[in-house]
Amino acid sequence: MTKREYLGAVVLLSALSVSVASLGWSDEDEPWEHDHGFWHRSAGVEPASDPTYRNECSACHFAYPAGLLPERSWVQLMRRLDDHFGENAELDEDTRKKIENYLRGHAAEHVPNRFSRSMLRSLSEGETPLRITETPFFRYKHREIPPRMVQKNPKVRSFANCASCHTMADRGIYDEDTVRIPGFGQWDD
Ligand code: HEC
Ligand code: HEC
Repeated sequence: MTKREYLGAVVLLSALSVSVASLGWSDEDEPWEHDHGFWHRSAGVEPASDPTYRNECSACHFAYPAGLLPERSWVQLMRRLDDHFGENAELDEDTRKKIENYLRGHAAEHVPNRFSRSMLRSLSEGETPLRITETPFFRYKHREIPPRMVQKNPKVRSFANCASCHTMADRGIYDEDTVRIPGFGQWDD
């Protein structure tokens, strides 16, 4: 073929592979996902990056990504640390304020990824969830996982223990291929 035909074929092929890729994503099953930008395709959310937040808020559990709750949720959560899911997680005011600022600045409204966007869309405006695990988005994503793998599984016990199943959670990666449920192994639905 001539050089021009060759170039034409290359352009055509790359156009084809782009449309195949977007087709693959367009049948995503979440009711809240509509657009198809770059972040939409990534199965990631920025992991907890602030050292103060990581230090102070991971003594009892995984340091959750700020981007998985809206700003209003973090404000409310940080206001009642003395009564934190049955625990006292109080901090001195300087540290508390520092962490609150970090969480607010990196909340779902402010970070570009499809999970944060879907999370926001799954909530009505008046809703202020204090748990990631109670949002419709989270429930929807985990709806097929039976209690014997979670609440009745001594190695997991609660959906709040993200990192016990999501082996790359500390890097902000949550896609299915990286899930290993302790005692059950790789997730395959
Ligand atoms: C003294 C222990 C302790 C400390 C320190 C602590 N937490 Fe928690 N946190 C808990 C417990 C217990 C739960 C409930 C876990 C469960 O349901 O399995 C929880 C749950 C949460 C949840 C909801 C998880 C879900 O179900 O989606 C968030 C968000 C959270 N904590 C944020 C924080 C932040 C932010 C800090 C730091 C300011 C913090 N925690 C420090 C004990 C603690
Ligand atoms: C019992 C194991 C388990 C725990 C605990 C768990 N997950 Fe998951 N998670 C899964 C499985 C399995 C999937 C894949 C579900 C499917 O697509 O069929 C999943 C899917 C997801 C997805 C969507 C991934 C994608 O590509 O669409 C996100 C985001 C996620 N989990 C975040 C979290 C967060 C944050 C926590 C903690 C608050 C958590 N998970 C706790 C097992 C778990």
